[in-house]
Amino acid sequence: MQTHTLLMPLDMHLHLRDGVMLENVAPLSAYSFSGAIVMPNLVPPVASLQDLQDYRARIMAAVPNDYFEPYMTLFYKNYNRAFLQSVSDEITAIKLYPAGITTNSEGGVSSFDIEEMRETLDAMSELEIPLCVHGETDGFVMDREAEFMSIYELLATNFPKLKIIMEHITTKAAVDMLDKYENLYATITVHHLLLTLDDVVGGMMMPHNFCKPIAKRPEDLDALLSVALNAHPKVMFGSDSAPHPQDKKESCGCAAGVFTAPIALQLLCEIFEQYGKLDNLQAFVSDNAQSIYGICPEFKEIVLEKRTFVIPEKYASVVPMYAGQAINWAIKSVE
Ligand code: NCD
Ligand code: ZN
Repeated sequence: MQTHTLLMPLDMHLHLRDGVMLENVAPLSAYSFSGAIVMPNLVPPVASLQDLQDYRARIMAAVPNDYFEPYMTLFYKNYNRAFLQSVSDEITAIKLYPAGITTNSEGGVSSFDIEEMRETLDAMSELEIPLCVHGETDGFVMDREAEFMSIYELLATNFPKLKIIMEHITTKAAVDMLDKYENLYATITVHHLLLTLDDVVGGMMMPHNFCKPIAKRPEDLDALLSVALNAHPKVMFGSDSAPHPQDKKESCGCAAGVFTAPIALQLLCEIFEQYGKLDNLQAFVSDNAQSIYGICPEFKEIVLEKRTFVIPEKYASVVPMYAGQAINWAIKSVE
């Protein structure tokens, strides 16, 4: 039987939530990943050292003894230098949301006034704290990410020493930025390597494929595949796995977020094998992230095997992407 081994997989964009949901989903990520960048969009957002330490402790209590490192992030505000210095050892990045653009982002940034942000972003540059960005404007839904490119340019040129990560990119426009600015990097989800808008609303509406940013056009999918499959050194896997209870997805007013954490590595194997690029998967799911963030996860070895795996209808109260569908790769062992 064909197998494929991955070492220290990392999920560089993950929503673990809190309370019962955290207890349900954290063990699923901890099983197959060595670590994950944990998003701060709780209600209220994680925005102080105390909140961050308490949240980290709740995450550690929710995962089994298996080794799993939650790389913690703060919710972006115009923090002062002294505060950033005091938290720099405890955080891996800061996540910036435009106000109101996605789930639990109401307290985000409402105007990208560079002078207002300068103290924070200069301090982050000096302290080597990367800035993760949800890059969407409030424009027409299919154009929001492309419209945000001018803001990325402003940030990249004003703060050349700041590592800026374009989170969950979905467009050719964002892919093209990677080779234009040295300090721009990106995460890519597994669902954006599989879906276009057709898979969300082209036939019957598919709530479990609905997320922000929304999946785009076939040419965007091709651009994402080209950098992911070739493990472009500035791209990393970040699932953006965003669990919502079933009744919040299958309802009038569907919450944005696709749940993929427990099936991400299997789907990635399938995609990379399909394009004859399995040898590049290790860089995409771990090595690139280790170099970009300068992190060194503890050893974990995941062996996947090529056999039919039917994706469960539900993990606790959460319906994953492709629920009930058969795929070609399964996890064989974890050490
Ligand atoms: C995320 C969530 O539910 O927290 N939703 C999503 O559609 N991706 C928030 C986010 O990352 O935008
Ligand atoms: Zn997210």
